[in-house]
Parts: sequence; structure tokens; C-alpha cells
Amino acid sequence: MQLNNARILLTGATGGLGQALAQQLAADGARLLLAGRDTARLAALNAALGGEHSSVRADLTRPEGVAAAAGAAREFGANVLINNAGVGGFGLYERQDWDEIDSLLATNLAAPMRLTHALLPWLKARPQAVIVNIGSTFGSLPFAGFAAYSAAKAGLRGFSQALRRELADTQVAVIHLAPRAIDTPLNSDAVNALNRALNNRSDDADAVARQVVAALRAGDGERHFGFPERFFAWLNGVAPTLIDRGLAGKLAVIKQHAPTR
Ligand SMILES: NC(=O)c1ccc[n+]([C@@H]2O[C@H](COP(=O)([O-])OP(=O)(O)OC[C@H]3O[C@@H](n4cnc5c(N)ncnc54)[C@H](OP(=O)(O)O)[C@@H]3O)[C@@H](O)[C@H]2O)c1
Repeated sequence: MQLNNARILLTGATGGLGQALAQQLAADGARLLLAGRDTARLAALNAALGGEHSSVRADLTRPEGVAAAAGAAREFGANVLINNAGVGGFGLYERQDWDEIDSLLATNLAAPMRLTHALLPWLKARPQAVIVNIGSTFGSLPFAGFAAYSAAKAGLRGFSQALRRELADTQVAVIHLAPRAIDTPLNSDAVNALNRALNNRSDDADAVARQVVAALRAGDGERHFGFPERFFAWLNGVAPTLIDRGLAGKLAVIKQHAPTR
């Protein structure tokens, strides 16, 4: 897609990856509808981008938030939806509160599905439209200490693939992108310490945003960012017991870094 023709609803615009994406997409000529829950941060981002864009305040875990974002997107003339909003969720599953798990599933899986559902008739009526879902390596390489997060991201991957296949005879493309760890506020100190202890690489948000923009331009259906993560995600698909064994060797370190509650 040519970005100077794009009118993009970007969720999670105020976050680490969202801000980097907003800056690059705006620099490439796209018009943005910035979505988030914090009006002041949305206004500050819009001002930093030159003030030419629009914003909508929406808590996407709430039906009225999804309705507000979808209504604003139609008014804005959006032809691209980037489902980027998300929350982290490091912790041993049995120690996590159900409310925390429920909220993670609502934000990372139900919200992008619901927003896509609300906007699909509108997007199908555009001459060209794209839905970009920001997943994670953990959607294909589910990780100990991230059971609910991995489940949500695996669900998002399945949703993206099924919808892409369902929309194959339309002009709506569905792109699923799976970054590895990114240096953003999503990762707590405990996650950063774990990544250091396991030698997991963490990418700069600008570098990941460049890859997202490249995938949007190219219209690729599926991209996994980072090596060796891409290889291990593939291996998990064909020989999950090998990954079980590899992760068993890291379990003590993961448990040592997991929050106690
Ligand atoms: N960071 C990583 O290591 C990593 C790795 C792979 C994939 N990802 C994915 O990349 C995406 C962006 O994450 P990030 O790292 O940029 O995280 P971040 O810096 O924590 O930003 C998260 C964004 O999501 C928004 N958000 C959270 N809950 C929301 C809700 N209920 N309704 C509406 N918006 C909500 C936040 O908005 P508010 O300003 O309203 O809080 C914020 O703009 C996520 O989907 C994440 O899963 C991240």
C-alpha cells in the first residue's frame, strides 16, 4: 500500500511501539487517527507530529470504547486498521489473579477482534484496505511465565490467518506481524532482567516500527521479526517437544524472575 493514500486508525498510539509507528507513518505521508486512553498523551503525540492528525480516546476493553474508535474511524475515512494496543503479562499462571488474566485477554485478543468486527463492513467498502495485527513471537513460541500472554497472541495469530483466508476474495488484506522483545514500557523490570538473564535480544522500537511499515508497504501476510526467534517459532510448529526440552532448561531462571504475586 502507498502510505500517502493511507488513513490509519492506530491503536496503542501512545505506547512505545505506537509512538515510533506514528512518527514513521506520518513522515511517510499517512494521515493518522491516534487511539489511546489518555487524552493528554494523545494530544502531546499529535502536537509532536505537527498537529495534523486526529485522535480518539477509547478504552478498547469496553464496548463503548470500541464503538467510539470505530465511529471515529468511519468519520476519519480510515482504510487501514493497526491493532497495536496491548498489555504485558509476565508471571507464573497459578499466581496471577483471574482479573489480571481476564483483562489481558480482553485487551490483547478480544479488543482487536471486536474492533475488526465493528469496522469490517466499512473496510470492505473502501477501494483498498488493510488490517495489521501486532502479535508476538510468543504467539508461535509460547513461553513459560507468559501463559495468558502467549494464549492471547496465539489466538490473534489464528484469528489473523483465518480472516485473511476468509477475505481472500475481497480487497481487504490482513497482515500479522510477530516482533520479539522490544524496549518499551510494556516490559516490567522483571521482564527486562529475565531477558538479560536468558540472553533474549530486545529490539529498539524505531527498528521494529520500520519493519512494520515495510510490511504494510509490501502487503505481506505474515512476518516474524528477529533471528533465532523466527527459527524457534518455526521449530515449535514442527517439533514442539524439542522446545519443551529447551525451555525446561530455562525454567529455574524464569521462576526466579517471576513476580511473587
Ligand atoms: N514490548 C514488547 O516486548 C513487545 C514484544 C512483542 C510484541 N509486542 C506488542 O506490541 C504492541 C505494542 O506494545 P508496546 O510494547 O508499545 O507497549 P506499551 O508501550 O505498553 O503501549 C501499549 C499501548 O496500548 C494501549 N492500551 C493498553 N490497554 C489499552 C486499553 N484497554 N484500551 C486502549 N488502549 C490500551 C496503551 O494506551 P494507554 O496510553 O491508554 O495506556 C499504550 O498506548 C502490543 O500489542 C504488544 O503485545 C510488544
